[in-house]
Amino acid sequence: MKAIVYHEYGSPDVLKLEEVQKPTPADNQLLIKVQAVSINRSDWEGLVGKPLYARMGGLLKPKDRILGSDIAGTVEAVGKDVKKFKLGDEVFGLMLNYGGGFAEYACKSEKALALKPAGMTFEAAAAIPQAAFIALQGIREKGQVMPGQKVLINGAGGGTGVFAIQLAKLAGAEVTGVDNAEKLDFMRSLGADHVIDYAKNDFTKNGQQYDLILDVIASRSVFACRRALNTNGRYFMAGGSVATMFQSLLIGPWIRRNTGKNIKLLVVQTESKDLVYMTELIESGKVKLVIDKRYPLSETAEALRYLGEGRAKGKVVITVAQN
Ligand SMILES: NC(=O)c1ccc[n+]([C@@H]2O[C@H](COP(=O)([O-])OP(=O)(O)OC[C@H]3O[C@@H](n4cnc5c(N)ncnc54)[C@H](OP(=O)(O)O)[C@@H]3O)[C@@H](O)[C@H]2O)c1
Repeated sequence: MKAIVYHEYGSPDVLKLEEVQKPTPADNQLLIKVQAVSINRSDWEGLVGKPLYARMGGLLKPKDRILGSDIAGTVEAVGKDVKKFKLGDEVFGLMLNYGGGFAEYACKSEKALALKPAGMTFEAAAAIPQAAFIALQGIREKGQVMPGQKVLINGAGGGTGVFAIQLAKLAGAEVTGVDNAEKLDFMRSLGADHVIDYAKNDFTKNGQQYDLILDVIASRSVFACRRALNTNGRYFMAGGSVATMFQSLLIGPWIRRNTGKNIKLLVVQTESKDLVYMTELIESGKVKLVIDKRYPLSETAEALRYLGEGRAKGKVVITVAQN
């Protein structure tokens, strides 16, 4: 099969279209003919090897040679222990830890996999998983946003932010989105009540305090974020700097004990039910799915460059199989 492969960390130039062995599913896996795969910041992090946690599989060279975690496709084979899916099913889901989606075929367990709604395109389905998991858990399940609360999303103009802004608005919150100047109107179009250009204003120094901060970029220290939280406010770090990650883990409990402000890492649980719930919100028109650009598999490097250079407004999708 054809796949986009890399053998060293680096810029998108290290990605090559190669002929590789088609994978064979284990007993608990399905073989999926990939129709579409979306790009996430985690792919960019895995490509460049930064932050350091992106090198967990291989410190000097990537262990898994094919990136791509959000896939949608058709089931071509099932292992003997697979219970929920059968040949021909159209499915979508997340393969976070090992990737493998920038390819014509991928193997995946049933976890974090759901049936694609018949009326939804493969591209749309592929644009959902990772961003939906982070946004649903950050805003609803762990964030528990209530009407009237003040919510700030740091990095709100990216993949997760598109869903996070809308979910917070659906919950009745007053939402502030932080991102670069090019994305301010985009965040407003998704429902953000206030927007902040991170290059001009530091949300931790503007005197405002929030009930919930969902941070996908962790550009500020936990001490600074503590300042921007109300008493009993919650800060969830979903991605970003390793320094803030360690601060959340080591200093977060101390801050909680002394101030009542909750500073935590968001470790997402990848349950199929969240995928189903998000597709229902999208199909009912309550949440808008935004696909900024589509690329063929052969142009995956360009697609990653587009996201990595910070130009994407919403999701970038690779169409793998042309029907
Ligand atoms: N916690 C978990 O369990 C879990 C699971 C999966 C993934 N993740 C992580 O969660 C993160 C998800 O990110 P995503 O896919 O939503 O990323 P994304 O689509 O790249 O969006 C991030 C946004 O943040 C903006 N940004 C960059 N620097 C900023 C700053 N200093 N202040 C404010 N905004 C800034 C980016 O814009 P520009 O760069 O254009 O300026 C971009 O619009 C990734 O780091 C991923 O590894 C976490």
